[in-house]
Amino acid sequence: MKLTLSVIKADIGSIGGHICPSRELFESVSSYVKKHSHDLLIDHYLSFTGDDIAIVMTHTRGTGDGKIHKLAWDAFITGTETAKAQGLYGAGQDLLKDSFSGNVKGMGPAVAEMEFEERTNEPFLFFAADKTDPGAYNLPLYLAFADPMTTPGLMLAPVMAKGFRFVIMDVNHTEGDRIIELNAPEDLYDIAALLRDTERYVVESIWSRTTDEQSVVVSTSRLHNIAGTYTGKDDPVMLVRVQKSFPATGEILAPYAIGPYVAGCMRGSHQMPLMPVPLNSGISYFDGPPVVSCAAFAMHKGKMTEAVDAFAHPFWDNVRNTVSEKAIGMRRQGFFGAAMLPMSELEYTGIMEKLDRLDGKFRIRE
Ligand code: F6R
Ligand code: MG
Ligand code: MG
Repeated sequence: MKLTLSVIKADIGSIGGHICPSRELFESVSSYVKKHSHDLLIDHYLSFTGDDIAIVMTHTRGTGDGKIHKLAWDAFITGTETAKAQGLYGAGQDLLKDSFSGNVKGMGPAVAEMEFEERTNEPFLFFAADKTDPGAYNLPLYLAFADPMTTPGLMLAPVMAKGFRFVIMDVNHTEGDRIIELNAPEDLYDIAALLRDTERYVVESIWSRTTDEQSVVVSTSRLHNIAGTYTGKDDPVMLVRVQKSFPATGEILAPYAIGPYVAGCMRGSHQMPLMPVPLNSGISYFDGPPVVSCAAFAMHKGKMTEAVDAFAHPFWDNVRNTVSEKAIGMRRQGFFGAAMLPMSELEYTGIMEKLDRLDGKFRIRE
């Protein structure tokens, strides 16, 4: 059965600043989807991560379908009314356009979708990250799909022996999708050279070179490239089909134990460690730390089981403690050096205005 798995997410308002959506807001989005999904969806699931609400949908309409996108858009519009009525902060923040025009891509919400022939059993993972951007998945994906130190399956499972194809996008290019396809393991150093620049080069999808099936799709939009000014970080979502010819769930999850430093956190302008958190977690320290959640599912003919919370397991408690220590360690150096993002990535314009003003005051000493 040819199935489409779509996730569309947006920040449309939250409590106490940018912490998390209200129960009423979450309910209004959720009940809108439920009420209007009959002819369109096989199944759906909603969660929030930080201040973002994500709608995971299964259907047979293919990727980029106008009706599916409109359903999510209208659900977020309805939610925005609730957010406004409750006085939530940033109500409708990610809905950058006034009216829907066929596809939510470029309109603010993040989208990740893939169409595939459903396997007899279809385990998959849904990741959502807040207070960071799509490059946050670069390292975990590189390690899980190209490094046998993380994924022994690359050595042990014959079906993975040929490796994986990475489709990487240059997200600075806004006139269209500028992509490159590289194969692991032959192109490993080229893949690494691109993926180290997380603000520009982002993994968009990953494919098995044995079966040609798609495992991964990541939302790649960068709001500051779309809107031209600060509108919040991009808080990426990702879908990963796992097991058999793909890495096992444990191989996909393992890299998150590193708590890698990623761009984001306070004012979208810092480098802070990525913390794996339980589903429906909010945000706290320094408008962060950047967080990632993971819901695991099994699926049959598009019907999903209940979500299992992959980062709720006690193993991750110690990782969270380590990430907290890393976060506090980085904050000790405030705005200095590696703690804050380079000028081109600062989401607020204040510092640029200051530097422009000061530039005029410089003089060449005689
Ligand atoms: C980061 C984020 C927050 C805000 C910060 C200031 O992605 O959303 O850190 O940047 O709370 O928010 P404003 O400018 O809305 O007061
Ligand atoms: Mg936000
Ligand atoms: Mg957010």
